[in-house]
Amino acid sequence: MAETVTLHTSNTTMVLNVEKGKQPKYVYYGAKLSDYDQQHLQTPRNGRMDAYPAYGMNCPAEAAFAMKHADGNMSTELYVTDLDRQGDITRITLKDPQYPISVTLFYKVYQEEDMIETWTEIHNGEAKPVTLTQFASCSLPIRRGNVWLSHFYGSWANEARLVEEPILPGEKVIKNKDGTRNSHTDHAEVMFSLNGKGQENTGDVIGAALCYSGNFQLKIDTDDTEYHYFFASINPDNSEYHLKKGETFTTPKVALSYSQAGLSGVSRNFHQWGRKYMLAHGNKERKILLNSWEGVYFDINQQGMDQMMGDIASMGGELFVMDDGWFGDKYPRKVDNSSLGDWVVDKNKLPDGIEGLLRDAKKHGIKFGIWIEPEMANTVSELYEAHPDWIIKAPKREPVLGRGGTQVVLDMSNPKVQDFVFSIVDNLMTKYPEIDYIKWDANMPILNHGSQYLTMNDQSHLYIEYHRGLENTCKRIRAKYPDLTIQACASGGGRANWGVLPYFDEFWVSDNTDALQRIYMQWGTSYFFPAIAMASHISATPNHTVFRTTAMKYRIDVAMSGRLGMEIQPKNMTDDEKALCRNAIKEYKGIRPIVQFGDLFRLVSPYDKVGLASLMYVNKQKTKSVFFWWKTESFQNEHLPRVKMAGLDANKYYKVHELNRIDLRPMDIEGKSFSGAYLMNHGLEIPYRNEPEYAKKNDWSSRVLLLEAE
Ligand code: DGJ
Repeated sequence: MAETVTLHTSNTTMVLNVEKGKQPKYVYYGAKLSDYDQQHLQTPRNGRMDAYPAYGMNCPAEAAFAMKHADGNMSTELYVTDLDRQGDITRITLKDPQYPISVTLFYKVYQEEDMIETWTEIHNGEAKPVTLTQFASCSLPIRRGNVWLSHFYGSWANEARLVEEPILPGEKVIKNKDGTRNSHTDHAEVMFSLNGKGQENTGDVIGAALCYSGNFQLKIDTDDTEYHYFFASINPDNSEYHLKKGETFTTPKVALSYSQAGLSGVSRNFHQWGRKYMLAHGNKERKILLNSWEGVYFDINQQGMDQMMGDIASMGGELFVMDDGWFGDKYPRKVDNSSLGDWVVDKNKLPDGIEGLLRDAKKHGIKFGIWIEPEMANTVSELYEAHPDWIIKAPKREPVLGRGGTQVVLDMSNPKVQDFVFSIVDNLMTKYPEIDYIKWDANMPILNHGSQYLTMNDQSHLYIEYHRGLENTCKRIRAKYPDLTIQACASGGGRANWGVLPYFDEFWVSDNTDALQRIYMQWGTSYFFPAIAMASHISATPNHTVFRTTAMKYRIDVAMSGRLGMEIQPKNMTDDEKALCRNAIKEYKGIRPIVQFGDLFRLVSPYDKVGLASLMYVNKQKTKSVFFWWKTESFQNEHLPRVKMAGLDANKYYKVHELNRIDLRPMDIEGKSFSGAYLMNHGLEIPYRNEPEYAKKNDWSSRVLLLEAE
């Protein structure tokens, strides 16, 4: 058997040579090939094109897979024994000629979205357990040239900062070791721009997302051959895995996409695939909400919640979410040092309980949501008193404590803990089926390695089993509560990954709600995640994290480019601010389908430091678009570039209407029509400053334009 496996999507082709007794080899990944070109492909030169290189017979080369066989042999050979193609899925089975170890490579094609998912199943047919030490989901050779990497470095309150760098000889490793969350310090997604530094709307780009919620490792190795070698994997650090006889280890999938329409082109593929196949309720509009955290922090009480619900309802909002601070009986949650695990209402704060809150929400005509942090406990809690063995801690050592000096992580590898975590949601939803939304937080990494459930021999399984446990629990929750909206929050943006999103509707982009910094963070986040999943809230000034004061319009205009919400105490807002928000919520309802389901075109990057940032969403029919324009700095007599639009129909005429207008006079372009060609080849002149009445002038100008085809 020697077969050429060709995987086509609408605009891309991947070709592998699959020959019995050999490693499958990549021959091509790029723009769609014609029949003729497929038959006349040149074999790549001076590269190791193995689809899943195993360690041991060419030791200097980086491997996707390494293991110790039951007899101690550390070398593995993996050669094709079988090829099976059914519908969208191609399976290539590899076996070691000397040992009954098999690895199946999967490739699943998503035609319309130009996406290829790939993952592996590793099966132990040996008589005894074997030890897996490297278990990548995929490896991909990328032809050298002027290849640039885009990745998303960050930290708490500064998530998803775009970093663009040329790939140089040596090894670049992007990794996470947090244990519970995985997108604060970098992301499990990268893009490769193949023709020099990435451009938003032109150029060949490959995007890769490891769909995993736990520790990951993305590695790019560049040696003396003609290729970069990309490996995407669960982080194998301190995670060697003992695979018992007859067991199968399935790696998380990697989603790969290729586009000739630049970085934004790859983003659009990910957004489309994500909304359609990954994200919970990716086809359903999100409600506009007020979350209580930055408004009242832990200071929850019945009257205060009622007031906030009334306020958001009066501004046109649709949902109120009560954040941290509502629970605890023996140990009421006053600050962050107690009560996690005790998911019962604090009757002192909320005498009428959740029933009372649901009653008030109904009275105001809105839905109600609630915050929980199910994977965690405090040592000061009834839960910990009853189940000290449920927490993660190193054997024979005292637990290392987190937030508030008392927080601990529950051991999700333990099925009893999984049952408990499931029961938190189940109890709430059984008692109060009207709860519409859950904010699921996770505010602690695994600081001390150790499971009280796993055997001493299998302690190295902790990181992996934690996330299997989490996923199993999420699956159970989703099976029973398919309609519930759930937000993945993790000290802000710690859980922006495609591993959790099948069970969550959205994620909290960052605890930092400062509009200026949000432009940067939301820009990076938008590379792989659609606006519908990016919770983006209007908050108070001075901002509670960076203490910057920005105009309310600016805060609104930034928040409206994602899933709009509010994170503020409305009682402290002026009438004028409330009026602006009321109007913004009304306007957002009009553009919600465009922002949440439209195609994203990033236009001017804040990272280019030209004084502004701009992006737009265009609906599928190219009849409606929303254009966002934000200044990122402000100087007198400054010079800003005119922004060329993208994604429109060159032959259509679009009428311009400014949303969230605060200027006394409309812009000269208001109500005028321009051809798509003009807008994309030339662009519109936008006045550099908003011109409201004198007392309301400020240095944070921004514009949102609605474009509608005539
Ligand atoms: C961290 C989250 O990111 C915040 O939004 C808030 O929910 C706090 N935790 C509550 O403790």
